[in-house]
Amino acid sequence: MKYAVIGDPVSHSLSPVMHQVNFESLNMEDTYEALHIPTQDFHDIRQIIEDNHINGFNVTIPHKERIIPYLDEIDDQAKAVGAVNTVKIINNKWIGYNTDGIGYVMGLKQVYPDLENAYVLILGAGGASKGIANELSKIVQPKLTIANRTMRRFETWDMDINAISLEQAEQYLDEFDIIINTTSAGLNNNEDIVISLDNLSSSTLVSDIIYIPYKTKFLKEAELKGNTVYNGLDMFINQGAESFKIWTGKQPNILEMKYAVLNKLKGV
Ligand code: ATR
Repeated sequence: MKYAVIGDPVSHSLSPVMHQVNFESLNMEDTYEALHIPTQDFHDIRQIIEDNHINGFNVTIPHKERIIPYLDEIDDQAKAVGAVNTVKIINNKWIGYNTDGIGYVMGLKQVYPDLENAYVLILGAGGASKGIANELSKIVQPKLTIANRTMRRFETWDMDINAISLEQAEQYLDEFDIIINTTSAGLNNNEDIVISLDNLSSSTLVSDIIYIPYKTKFLKEAELKGNTVYNGLDMFINQGAESFKIWTGKQPNILEMKYAVLNKLKGV
């Protein structure tokens, strides 16, 4: 079988090496490649995938929402989030899923086992935030709090959450057990920091879904204060592992996937 990730840009994606190592460790002859699809070519996506003989694919920036009209079916989680990162093809029928949220929450459970009772603050209200909030709401008992720069963003949310501003988040920061940054502030070594951590309690787990850089300025500041920090690497690995399960029905070799990505990040 042949798999791919489609995006623009996509050449730096770590998905091919991660999936390829997994296939090899399971003695599978399947392949996984990065397929560059510029937005102006997207209307031809069904033909492009067919011409490339692709049996299933991941979708990355900027196509996670754009893919939806081309699907035959969409699962509930992807529908609730309004974004798709995994497409399974069965007999030419395209089914869309979103494994980003579950990928993050699977990892978070490992580092914060008492997730059920945690007071969680999510910074950002875009697609990534919604996916994580959706998955967390299945486990976490206290109502989730979401903070965003633009309050109008919450108009597209139909979950039962506390919606607050970034200023309110700064003010009430010490009330949370877990703080998750899903905004793009800090991406690609951008030195922006989404909120001030002045009121942070020392026992709070501080997380960022970014993993390049490995520690954003947000995580570095939290670490300087002595807090435990958690980046988005496991989210990336686990979303890929969940996609693999959807496509093949098999269990992936998550450890090998993680080593492959870590080696690549270290430039080995
Ligand atoms: P994604 O799918 O990665 O979540 P998105 O849907 O474009 O991407 O959402 C980006 C999020 O990052 C939004 O919550 C955005 O806030 P706004 O709704 O106010 O635009 C947030 N964001 C991006 N850059 C930010 C910054 N410099 N400071 C604060 N929030 C930022």
